[in-house]
Amino acid sequence: MEELFDKAQQAALAAYAPYSKFRVGAALLSIDGQVFIGCNVENRSFGLTICAERGAVMHAVSKGCRSFTAIAIAAPDSPVPVPPCGACRQVLSEFMPPDARVYFGGASVERVNATIGALCPFDSLHDLASGVD
Ligand code: THU
Repeated sequence: MEELFDKAQQAALAAYAPYSKFRVGAALLSIDGQVFIGCNVENRSFGLTICAERGAVMHAVSKGCRSFTAIAIAAPDSPVPVPPCGACRQVLSEFMPPDARVYFGGASVERVNATIGALCPFDSLHDLASGVD
């Protein structure tokens, strides 16, 4: 997971975050071993901002990849590890089994190693996505 986290750190360097000054990078690992990165892209119409995690998912799905075993999230401007926001948890859970790893950190060496199932409890609609092409 630290290797995946390094890729997330690299991705954070491309963040477009002139308003918050809070860069985030994500690295998403597909079941066939490919890594797709994303970074946050802000907008002067603030609500249009896209988080790093959703950027990585859009990147992967656009390349034909829809199933992931892990994501690492790096937030180099944060003193504490930064987990995905609620919207990103929901989007990630569409393409991940509940036991997929969600590994996140901030500027320090502290890391949190969670699962998408723990971050999205009571997800009774999860199986709706499993029958979809
Ligand atoms: N952000 C992410 O990209 N991912 C997260 O998990 C938390 C928040 C971004 C959105 C915004 O550009 C900035 O961080 C501050 O919230």
